Amino acid sequence: MGDFLIAYGSQTGQAETIAKSVKEKSELIGLAPRLFTLDENEKKFNLNEEKLCVIIVSSTGDGDAPDNAARFVRRINRRTLPEDFLKSLEFVVLGLGDSNYSSYQLIPRKIDKQLANLGAKRLFECGEADDQVGLELVVEPWIDRLFKILGAKFEIPAERMNAITESPNIKLNQVKSEEEKKALLEKRLHDEESDDEGKGGVQGVEMLIPQHFDYPEISLLKGSAALSADENLRVPIAPQPFIVSSVSHKKLPENSKLEWQNACKMPGVVTKPFQVLVVSAGFVTDPFSKKIKTKRMITVDFGGQI
Ligand SMILES: Cc1cc2nc3c(=O)[nH]c(=O)nc-3n(C[C@H](O)[C@H](O)[C@H](O)COP(=O)(O)O)c2cc1C
Repeated sequence: MGDFLIAYGSQTGQAETIAKSVKEKSELIGLAPRLFTLDENEKKFNLNEEKLCVIIVSSTGDGDAPDNAARFVRRINRRTLPEDFLKSLEFVVLGLGDSNYSSYQLIPRKIDKQLANLGAKRLFECGEADDQVGLELVVEPWIDRLFKILGAKFEIPAERMNAITESPNIKLNQVKSEEEKKALLEKRLHDEESDDEGKGGVQGVEMLIPQHFDYPEISLLKGSAALSADENLRVPIAPQPFIVSSVSHKKLPENSKLEWQNACKMPGVVTKPFQVLVVSAGFVTDPFSKKIKTKRMITVDFGGQI
């Protein structure tokens, strides 16, 4: 009784910690889940023979699967799999990511979509926890929701379910030390710089001098309900060197030779980009301080096209 699968893909340990905690909480209420990495599919378990699977997975690199989930992602995307390959499976995905990346939640979303494509039934929609604002904001309500469903499914008496609320919250921030985070950030910046090589990266693009600008009545800076509600006006999130290379203080002519993002790849953007005038740019956090999450704020002018 109470058998189901918890499978995770984790690069730096956060998803693994959550998966282990879901297992412990399940055991507290008398369930008996099995815990594996996603890549142990077809070795320790077969997803197509499972009835219920809880997946907790992050993205790494530039929208890549964690090392212990990469093979799984490739396998579920094999073209030879029949459309009803996972017809007996119910599943739910919790995604971990960081909205600083343009490939935010790429892997959890891919897995969620592909399992449904293969005929599996979603218990509820994919949770998306964001490292930028704190994973726990989404993780904790997601776990509450999961256990409500598990409690009902396995007919766990209400008194026993209390063990969940009494159990300690997951401690996520302990997983990476400041040194580890710094090392990862340095690696990330280094990877982004090497990505630029040979693709007409930031070098050689003239940066213009900031000029005084009178903000129009409606701008992203001053805020407007119309602007903040319109998804099409979201400025794409791009790694810092790309944003720096795009900053201009003069409106570019339609046929300007300056290619969008200097021809660097820009994963995750689905709408056609349009040019806007960037009127100022500045660091929100000091890039040279020890804080690892540096942010750049840009103010753009939509030229009265709103
Ligand atoms: C080197 C590196 C690359 C990352 N790449 C992405 C990414 O492409 N998309 C995303 O949404 N999050 C990305 N993240 C954020 C992680 O997914 C997030 O920190 C998550 O909590 C890590 O979970 P894990 O420890 O289980 O791997 C990246 C983080 C690091 C350190």
